Amino acid sequence: MASAASSLASQFSGLRREAAKPSFSTAHLFHGVQSQLRLPSARRPIRSVVAMAGTGKFFVGGNWKCACNHDDYYLGIYNDFCLKPVQILQNGTKDSIRKLVADLNDSKLENDVDVIVSPPYVYIDVVKQSLTERIEISAQNSWVGKGGAFTGEISVEQLKDIGCKWVILGHSERRHIIGEDDQFIGKKAAYALSQNLKVIACIGEKLEEREAGRTFDVCFEQMKAFADSISNWKDVVIAYEPVWAIGTGKVATPEQAQEVHVAVRDWVKKNVSPEVASSTRIIYGGSVNGGNCSELAKQEDIDGFLVGGASLKGPEFATIVNSVTAKKVTA
Ligand code: PGA
Repeated sequence: MASAASSLASQFSGLRREAAKPSFSTAHLFHGVQSQLRLPSARRPIRSVVAMAGTGKFFVGGNWKCACNHDDYYLGIYNDFCLKPVQILQNGTKDSIRKLVADLNDSKLENDVDVIVSPPYVYIDVVKQSLTERIEISAQNSWVGKGGAFTGEISVEQLKDIGCKWVILGHSERRHIIGEDDQFIGKKAAYALSQNLKVIACIGEKLEEREAGRTFDVCFEQMKAFADSISNWKDVVIAYEPVWAIGTGKVATPEQAQEVHVAVRDWVKKNVSPEVASSTRIIYGGSVNGGNCSELAKQEDIDGFLVGGASLKGPEFATIVNSVTAKKVTA
């Protein structure tokens, strides 16, 4: 078993492939999505871009948000965004965190995946003390500069002090609910990286932006703000998270996600460098679960996932981490 895994791992040294254009048609883009959500493609006609799959290691992050269990998670989203009435009320507790950590510690995770979880701030320390070192810890946000008299904020220095290796920045909930703008997020990324805190840099369009054919424009604007602030991309993972797919159960089709990933990689190639475009992981987030992860993982430019709701169930999160095996088959 171990030798099979390591031989697969050795094949999976990076999916570097060149293709003149995405290998799917507009008709294919719409296939499968119509039953759940009618959405236009990102832009018509599809831009001809170079598909240059990344060379980085598969990466899966669990974003626990401001919830500690699955029911809280959907309670928060459905209440705040008025998508559905909520039936179940349960508070996240230390107990639910303990259970999640225990389940993760018991999980068998493929070797060739970087795995991180992002607990709410107040639980980071306890998670760090009890979680297997196989999984790194991320914060969900950080202050824009050096710590000081900023009531309610948490500094990069403090996050590092309690063992965080990563921070999620630019998540759509911070952009669209808290009101952080592109430049502020870019500055946060620059400061975190300057202190050696690695960054999961989130981008993604709202439903109305997709419907207006502005998906690429929005993603590129958000990318530009990151690129204007970031000089070293070694410690950056880009997360493409269409806002309409986050916490809604309406996952992008593999083709929709791939289309944007290709475009973002192409943008990085032209605006940063071909080397950075190749080495930077571009992960997908938005209603990823144990059932849809394998098909998404097979897409050439999807280098992993940022997972919200499904990361609150240890065994399901492990399934998503292990979807790297679907990628190996495709490789
Ligand atoms: P979701 O959240 O998996 O619940 O859609 C993803 C995210 O917000 O990172």
